Amino acid sequence: MKDGKFLVLGIETSCDETACSVITSDREVLSNIISSQIDIHKVYGGVVPEIASRHHLEDILPVLKKALKEANVTIDEIDLIGATKGPGLIGALIIGVATAKALSFTKDIPLCAVNHTEGHISAAYLEKKDLEPPFLSLVVSGGHTKLIAVDDYNKFRVLGETRDDAAGEAFDKVARVLGLEYPGGPNLDLLAKKGKRDAVFFKRVMLEKDSLDFSFSGIKTSVMNYINNEKNIIKADIAASFQEAIVDVLVEKAKMALELTNYDKLVMAGGVASNSRLRARLEEESLSAGFSLICPAKILCTDNAAMIAMSAYYRYKEGFLEDYNMDADASYKMNI
Ligand code: KG4
Ligand code: ZN
Repeated sequence: MKDGKFLVLGIETSCDETACSVITSDREVLSNIISSQIDIHKVYGGVVPEIASRHHLEDILPVLKKALKEANVTIDEIDLIGATKGPGLIGALIIGVATAKALSFTKDIPLCAVNHTEGHISAAYLEKKDLEPPFLSLVVSGGHTKLIAVDDYNKFRVLGETRDDAAGEAFDKVARVLGLEYPGGPNLDLLAKKGKRDAVFFKRVMLEKDSLDFSFSGIKTSVMNYINNEKNIIKADIAASFQEAIVDVLVEKAKMALELTNYDKLVMAGGVASNSRLRARLEEESLSAGFSLICPAKILCTDNAAMIAMSAYYRYKEGFLEDYNMDADASYKMNI
């Protein structure tokens, strides 16, 4: 506690970002430190798990110290620690979980395990201070594409999810085909701004009628076939047309899920939620269809520890506490 405020320390190491953050229980972010390994993994065209683990180990304590310093608090003032238990890369998750357990044990601070996807959804509470469930969440990241009914802080229903590639994975793969650097998503987003969205038609895979599932694995092949068969290709046009195809599917299915649940709030979550076209399209839809759209700032959409701290707080409030037996779990399930 400091100045009467309940302080939560979040720790996130599920992929290639080592992150620590201090927030208050009233949704104030006091620090949000992220050490990204993007430049290290870029040369390999993707995250190399073994290298990621080594860097988490090197970075975790400096990042932790920085997060406490920037928040102007000491570890003794922290009331709760939350760490990502999974899903993610096991060797990467272990570093964050071990750090959290050591701090919890030595300083006698309660400890919570956080599901990474639930963390992404919780970023919205930091963005919109009066947001309360129920709402619908569209989780679009490098590993997940899910439509989730958030019935309560710790009660989730998965309405639909990808049957193969995640949206971010499709962005990264197509970006690679177009010769863009890792991580491809943000670079493709930039390139697409210079292209024509209707230059090439890529099939929108909607699956069975009424299905809220997604399938994005075919589109990379379609893009590759197009590039191989056409002589004069314009990369920006391909980027814009591909992006439009993905965005069309995401928007259409999100609207179907809003109708199904009757919820009037849509929360975007995960790295792909920072895609400029997806944001613009959903903003237009929210105005015409009359739902409110909550789209966290980019820094809260991509992997960070503030969202993990927020999720930990709501788990703590319901008594989901861990002891020193807490383990990382690469395929940790959501609370459904
Ligand atoms: O949530 P996140 O940081 O990590 C995971 O939990 O996966 O998401 C990373 C994913 C990557 O696939 C990245 O290319 C994608 O989000 N991404 C984007 C954009 N920014 C990040 N995809 C499309 N447009 C963007 N602006
Ligand atoms: Zn993530």
